[in-house]
Amino acid sequence: MASKRTAIVMAAGKGTRMKSERPKATIPLLGQPLTSYVLRALEGAGVEQIIVVVGHGAEEVQQMLGDRYTYALQAEQLGTGHAVMQAIPYLPPDAEYVIIAAGDSPLITPEVFRALYETAYETQSACVFATALLDDPTGYGRILRDGSGKVVGIVEEKDASPEQRAIREVCTSFYCFRVDALRDALPRLNNQNAQGEYYLTDVIGILAHQGARIVAWQSPDPTLLIGVNNRWELAQAGYALRMRILKQLCLDGITIVDPATTYIEPTVQIGHDTVVEPNTHLRGNTTIGARCTLGPDLYLQDCTVGDSCHLFRSHLVQVRIDSEVSVGPFAHIRPGTVLHRGVRIGDFVEIKNVEIGEGTKVLHLTYLGDATVGKGTNIGAGTITCNYDGERKHRTVIGDGVFVGSHATLIAPVTIGDGAYIAAASPITEDVPPESLAIARCYQTVKAGWVRKRRESKHGAGGTEP
Ligand code: UD1
Ligand code: CA
Repeated sequence: MASKRTAIVMAAGKGTRMKSERPKATIPLLGQPLTSYVLRALEGAGVEQIIVVVGHGAEEVQQMLGDRYTYALQAEQLGTGHAVMQAIPYLPPDAEYVIIAAGDSPLITPEVFRALYETAYETQSACVFATALLDDPTGYGRILRDGSGKVVGIVEEKDASPEQRAIREVCTSFYCFRVDALRDALPRLNNQNAQGEYYLTDVIGILAHQGARIVAWQSPDPTLLIGVNNRWELAQAGYALRMRILKQLCLDGITIVDPATTYIEPTVQIGHDTVVEPNTHLRGNTTIGARCTLGPDLYLQDCTVGDSCHLFRSHLVQVRIDSEVSVGPFAHIRPGTVLHRGVRIGDFVEIKNVEIGEGTKVLHLTYLGDATVGKGTNIGAGTITCNYDGERKHRTVIGDGVFVGSHATLIAPVTIGDGAYIAAASPITEDVPPESLAIARCYQTVKAGWVRKRRESKHGAGGTEP
C-alpha cells in the first residue's frame, strides 16, 4: 500500500427530493453538514486526500465543509459518472486505487471504507463495491448477477424491468476502483437511459463485460449504507446516528436515562459518571465534566461545564461553568456568562454576559446583564440590573460578600463595593462604597385609624360599609 489513500466524494447534486433552497451537502444533521459525516468516516479510515465534487451551491458547500479538501467543480450535474470524471484530473499521479463515495450517506463508518480498500488490494480487483440486501430496495440501483452469481452490472430503478425491481441486493454508491480501470471505463459511459445521465453504476457493467475482476462486498449491516434523498430519510438517519452516539456514551461510562428523548450532537464531550436525565439537548461545542447530573428538560449549546454540576430544566447558550455549580429550574443563561465554582442559580433567573464569582447565589426572579459579581455574594429575589438606557449598554460591578436585598434595582453604570449591603426595594443610582449600607426608599407613612375615620365620615359613628 504505497501511495496515499485517496477518495472522491460526489456532492454536486441539488438534492431535488429534499425540497430545500440549500444544497443537499450542507443540510444539517445533528448540527453538522450532511456530507461531513462521509468525510469524517473517510478520514477515520486513513484517507489522506479527499476530492469533493461540488456543483450546486458550490461556494456554500466548500465554505461549510472547509479547506482541508480538494474541490472539483461539476458545473452541470450530468450524473454520478460525469461527477467522477471531473475529479480524475485531481488524482495524485501515483494513486493505484481510489475510493468513491456518495456524499449523501451519513451513516457510513470507517470500517466499511477499510474493508473496501483492503479487499481491493488483496484481490487485486478492478473494483470492489459495497452492496446491501434491503427489505425495501425502492429507489436504489439493483445488482445484476448471471446464473453463476457473477456480477454483470447494475440497473437503476428507473431503467429496471419489473423482474429486476424485485431484486433486493442494491448498489450503495461506495466503491474502491483501480484507477487505471476507472480511467479507461469512464469515457465509455453514455447517457442513453431514463434519466439522460452518465451513471457511475454503468462502469460496473463495462468492467464486467471486459472480464475484469469485480467484487461485490456485502455489508453485514445494511443500515450503515443507506442514502438520504428526502427529509424522512434524513430524520431516520438522524435517529440512527443519535442512537449510535448515545450507545457509545453509555459504553464510555455515562448514564443515559432515556435515549428516546435525549439529543446529543457528535461534537459534544461528556465525562464519566455523568447522568443525563430525559429530554436533555446538548449541542455544538459543548463539553461536560464528570459526575454531573443534567436534566430533566435541559438545553445547552456551546457550553463548557466542570465536574459535579447539577443543571436542570433550563436553557443555556455559550456559557462557561466551573465545578459544583447548580442551575435551575427555569433559568435562561445567555452568551458571555461565566459561573465560577459553587455558584447557585435558581428559578426565573435570566443572566447575560455576566461573570459570577465563587459561591455566589442568585436564586429567584432576577435579571443580571453586563455585570461582574464577586465571590460569596447574595443577590436577592427580584434584583434587576438596568443595563440598557435605550441606546447603550452599561456595566454593573458588584464586589465580594455583598448582600443585595430583594427587589433592588441597580441602575448601571454603578459599582457596589465589597461587603456592602443594599436595602431591599432600593433603586441604586450611585456607587456604594465597601462595607456600607445603601438605602434608597420613600419612607413609609402609617396613618393610624385612617380606615375607621373614613368610614365614620361617610356613614356616621357605628356605621358599616354597604
Ligand atoms: C445512486 C446510484 C444508485 C444507488 C444510490 C445509493 C447512480 C446512477 N445511482 O442513486 O445506484 O443505489 O446512489 O445511495 O449512481 N451527484 C453528483 N453529480 C451528479 C449527480 C449526483 O455529484 O451529477 C452526487 C449527489 O450529490 C449525491 C450522489 O452523487 O451525493 C448520488 O446522487 P443521487 O442523485 O442521490 O443518486 P441516487 O438516485 O441516490
Ligand atoms: Ca442518493
